[in-house]
Amino acid sequence: MPAQILDGKTLAARVTDELRARVAACIAAGRAAPGLAVVLVGEDAASQVYVRNKRRTTDGVGMRSLAFDLPASVSESELLALIGRLNDDPSVNGILVQLPLPAHVSAERVIEAIDPKKDVDGFHPYNIGRLVLRMPTLRPCTPFGCMRLLAATGEDLVGRHAVVIGQSNIVGRPMALELLMARCTVTICHSATRDLPGLVRQADIVVAAIGKANFVQGSWIKDGAMVIDVGINRGADGKLVGDVDFEAARERAGWLTPVPGGVGPMTIATLLSNTLQAAQMQDA
Ligand code: GUN
Repeated sequence: MPAQILDGKTLAARVTDELRARVAACIAAGRAAPGLAVVLVGEDAASQVYVRNKRRTTDGVGMRSLAFDLPASVSESELLALIGRLNDDPSVNGILVQLPLPAHVSAERVIEAIDPKKDVDGFHPYNIGRLVLRMPTLRPCTPFGCMRLLAATGEDLVGRHAVVIGQSNIVGRPMALELLMARCTVTICHSATRDLPGLVRQADIVVAAIGKANFVQGSWIKDGAMVIDVGINRGADGKLVGDVDFEAARERAGWLTPVPGGVGPMTIATLLSNTLQAAQMQDA
């Protein structure tokens, strides 16, 4: 039986509808709409698309979107000075600096400069540390969005073998921590992993975050597995494709996310739920 499709677009719309109602209630109670500052450095085409979607969805739930578009030539100290001003501005509840940054700017220094209470990406060492210790506060958006997708399957995750392909700070590492917190047995694979197909064949849950079009073969997927495809790659024909060979995986998986319309919308919905959470923490 072909896989059931895990529709991130519909699930994200449900999350944003609920957020819109909660933001309206906030405003009705006399509080300001939460404000999210999104900083984009340079002209990377993919980043421009992601940031446009983030800003549009922020406005769509009634939050305030504050746009800071800086040239690729901006110095690290100028960027750090902007972060300092946003940290000090009480009308800014969340700060997101779109990655990647130009090579002359240290992403680590920029992330560490963000006030952890406004770190809606959940990338600051404080927030990652809390996730490590099973005391999460602001959680990285893509992994948390993937957990919401897995929860939507209704399947019990406890004791399942989860194989995460990719070890990035943005997805692979925090994803593994989320799955561990959900009591999965977790394997993290990366470019030095031996026999990747053999490991994926053992997986009840596969999270693919490699950044290579159609990299995960259908023949690697265990019958009935839950397959979450984080990849967004442009195929030779210009169409978006994931890291998993969708058509082949569909014949074996139990559940499968499409690209587009799977993880992407859930990342944005989770960014906005983090922004509301950050605003409420700052109010308290
Ligand atoms: N670049 C790719 N994904 C992300 C993300 O989730 N947050 C930020 N800030 N940059 C990204």
